[in-house]
Amino acid sequence: MKILLTGRNGMLGNDLIEILKGSNHEIISTNTSNLDITKLNEIHEKVDEVNPEIIINSAAYTDVDGCEIKKNLAYNVNAIGPKNLAIVANKSNCSLVHISTDYVFDGNQKSYAEEDETNPINVYGKTKLEGELFVKENLNNYFILRTAWLYGLHGSNFVKTMLNLSKNNNEIAVVNDQYGSPTFTRDLSIAISKIIETDNYGTYHITNSGNCTWYDFAKEIFKQTNIDVTLKAVTSEEFSRPAPRPKYSILNNKNWKKIGFKPLRSYKEALKEYLSLELNE
Ligand SMILES: NC(=O)c1ccc[n+]([C@@H]2O[C@H](COP(=O)([O-])OP(=O)(O)OC[C@H]3O[C@@H](n4cnc5c(N)ncnc54)[C@H](OP(=O)(O)O)[C@@H]3O)[C@@H](O)[C@H]2O)c1
Repeated sequence: MKILLTGRNGMLGNDLIEILKGSNHEIISTNTSNLDITKLNEIHEKVDEVNPEIIINSAAYTDVDGCEIKKNLAYNVNAIGPKNLAIVANKSNCSLVHISTDYVFDGNQKSYAEEDETNPINVYGKTKLEGELFVKENLNNYFILRTAWLYGLHGSNFVKTMLNLSKNNNEIAVVNDQYGSPTFTRDLSIAISKIIETDNYGTYHITNSGNCTWYDFAKEIFKQTNIDVTLKAVTSEEFSRPAPRPKYSILNNKNWKKIGFKPLRSYKEALKEYLSLELNE
């Protein structure tokens, strides 16, 4: 398939390129400098030039705390960007994969299925939800894929932060009252490469299996790397940040299983592969 990809410099974008090329797709990958998704005319021009069968939008403004300050930027990239892509996809008869987030939920229930009520509690989540709604409003052939707690080889992420902190600290404080499913961008990319082979359009939750708190995840990282560091469990209130985070954002991958796909492997197995790649680079 001929695929137009946005966000090629991103953590997910990098892995998507590798995985999709490996599945014999033709990828035309873009970044902000050659396709700014906030600019409708640029998307029209690019899609006319490339004529893709599918657009995958992995571009976003993902700095959750930054979104609280740069609200306009967050709205433009996370809401207007996907709206523009959906408008052009609809006009050009191609489908759209749009990546969204667990942060569209408020975190007041233990886990969330695709149809559960959304109620974001920070600007990032609000703008990502607006992006989802615009996609649904402007296009039928869409995949909205909500994922969570991403880490990968090509970007800063929680695992790298923990490994770096352990170099200069004997004790690290980690939040122990937020629950989620850490997800390896390579596993998500493989899942995306599978779902685009179908025409089961709709909204999906896709994460690695299992769940934990950030504290549990840090414990697993140091267990698997045999690093001796003391972890101190703290509450979200103690570890205050500009944007509130949902307490529970475990995504039930119900629709993914319903269309016949196996659950993604456990986050612990995925972490093992990630660490072997990361530490041997
Ligand atoms: N990271 C997570 O934990 C997480 C969790 C749940 C969902 N998600 C979602 O997963 C997707 C991928 O996230 P990620 O962590 O891979 O993101 P990322 O590493 O921050 O990459 C996002 C990319 O978006 C590009 N971008 C920003 N503004 C743009 C614009 N106006 N036009 C075109 N491109 C623009 C940036 O490209 P340039 O370098 O060219 O500026 C950046 O490389 C996003 O939709 C995100 O919301 C992420």
